[in-house]
Amino acid sequence: MIQLNDVSYTYPQSKEPAVKNISLTIRENEFIAIMGRNGSGKSTLARLLNGLILPDIGEVIVDGLSSLKPENLLEIRKRVGLLFPDPDSQLVSNLVEEEIAFGLENLGLSPVEIRKRVDAALKMVSMEDYEKYPPYLLSGGQKQKICIASFLAMQPTYLILDEPFSMLDPGGRNDLLSLLLTMQPKLNIALLMITHNLEDALQADQIVIMDKGEIINIAHPREILKMGTKITALGIEPLELNSFIEQLESATGISIAPDTIEIESLVETICHLS
Ligand SMILES: Nc1ncnc2c1ncn2[C@@H]1O[C@H](COP(=O)(O)OP(=O)(O)OP(=O)(O)O)[C@@H](O)[C@H]1O
Ligand SMILES: [Mg+2]
Repeated sequence: MIQLNDVSYTYPQSKEPAVKNISLTIRENEFIAIMGRNGSGKSTLARLLNGLILPDIGEVIVDGLSSLKPENLLEIRKRVGLLFPDPDSQLVSNLVEEEIAFGLENLGLSPVEIRKRVDAALKMVSMEDYEKYPPYLLSGGQKQKICIASFLAMQPTYLILDEPFSMLDPGGRNDLLSLLLTMQPKLNIALLMITHNLEDALQADQIVIMDKGEIINIAHPREILKMGTKITALGIEPLELNSFIEQLESATGISIAPDTIEIESLVETICHLS
């Protein structure tokens, strides 16, 4: 479990805190989506979770280990993987297979175990044909897949994905998200995904919405959907279907269940009206 107790953090050059008064619990095997407008503090929260930055006020406790104690930081970073949005900032090796092996060598695993995990991780993201490729020759989306594979191979307890699909096409995004959700129970991993895409967040156990450094809402996706297009005020793009439903309601006066997210159930509702 990761616990944040009333955490605030101000960057050294800033006057305003980037995150403030954050209290949050992340349980093992949970899938949490973090949303909110640009600059609302999502990436800062991610850095606090794996001890990359330390709270000025409050405490971040990972499986009983406070990040304020320097002797805990190595173990915290082993347990909490943090994947940045920009894959180029994380790729350090000359070959894809070396890239994935790199993190595993740092964990002190045997060469046999490393080989096994490299092969399995590449297979997970359907990139097994690229093991001898230099990462810089890959497309942005392929690089993101390699970054995800290298973290999955390390088998952290918590994996934070900061906008992991920003360079993937919709098909690639859906594939990788379903892969992550299939792997989650097998690898016993909690996923925290920072995303601007409400559709990606719908499968989460909870959606955390941030604004101006604070958590302003934590709820099941179903509850968030009930906000309809009002969610725009929080910097979140509503689902296309939500906008369509609201237009339909105002044009016809009919009322549709607020958590309708599939076109099929909308069609069914409309058919039952007549
Ligand atoms: N390295 C930094 N130094 C100083 N201020 C920073 C730094 N990184 C972020 N900030 C500030 O902290 C606040 C929160 O930024 P953060 O990157 O956490 O937002 P975010 O929600 O991840 O935004 P985005 O959706 O654009 O990625 C912003 O006001 C930003 O200007
Ligand atoms: Mg960010």
